[in-house]
Amino acid sequence: MSQELPVALRRTLVDFRLSGDGGLLLAGLPIVDADLGASPPVMSAPPRNGELARADAMLLLIASFLGYPVSQAGVDDGHLVRHVSPLPGHENTQLGSSSAGELMWHNEDAYHPLRPDWICLLCLRNPDGTATSFARIDDIPIDDSTRSLLARPLFRIEPDSSNTASSTAAEPPAVAVLTGDPSRPFVRLDPAFMFRASGGGDEAAAALEEVIKAVDQRLQDVSVAPGEILIIDNLRAVHGRRPFSARYDGHDRWLRIVNVAADLRRSEGFRTGDHGRAVVAEIELDTR
Ligand SMILES: [Fe+2]
Repeated sequence: MSQELPVALRRTLVDFRLSGDGGLLLAGLPIVDADLGASPPVMSAPPRNGELARADAMLLLIASFLGYPVSQAGVDDGHLVRHVSPLPGHENTQLGSSSAGELMWHNEDAYHPLRPDWICLLCLRNPDGTATSFARIDDIPIDDSTRSLLARPLFRIEPDSSNTASSTAAEPPAVAVLTGDPSRPFVRLDPAFMFRASGGGDEAAAALEEVIKAVDQRLQDVSVAPGEILIIDNLRAVHGRRPFSARYDGHDRWLRIVNVAADLRRSEGFRTGDHGRAVVAEIELDTR
């Protein structure tokens, strides 16, 4: 089905996938606000209406052209498409359901060896124009000595509390922040949940602090409007969300989100669920 999307859209998605540009904003998807129903609390069952079904179908078609939509078995019961909306009591947490507190920037599921390659955020409502924060690792100046420390497995990242299937009992494995081509590396950061490994020493702690400060200084705000899809390359860019006031009146900020894997073969044997696309979180974490 995704092969039948308009040629211009397919060309844009292929160009984006090959360029490694970090982010792409697609606009102009038809969303009829009046037919969507009330913005539901995060983790609740989606309202059943044709408008939301059409919106999800558009999101999945576009995501399917990029790669393979996947979910985490321990996040929102493994639903392939999830809500992002505020939830009473979560205002100041580091979860997508927060609102009054800043959701600190991060790579999605940074702790996980099978973290998604891309995340696709479809905006259904954003009444205050709340910004998604965003930075591409290519735009972050990092000196050579910091870069070489960040390329070594000297850091640990704990699962965030959205993943109920992940245990924090065992110490997470030591991983590198930068991997791949040293001149154009992939990035793996989640400052709210990461620290230097015990063998890392003060130099590793300083390098981590340095890159976090540099990202802070170059964070851009991207306000995603209804009918727009923001695609984030989760290996090349970090994202977060600026604070906003939740309304809890049925018209809150509401995104639908799907994670995308470039290659299903990496998760062979670790997937479960009706659609065979939920990645089981309790796999042995390694340094892949
Ligand atoms: Fe996120």
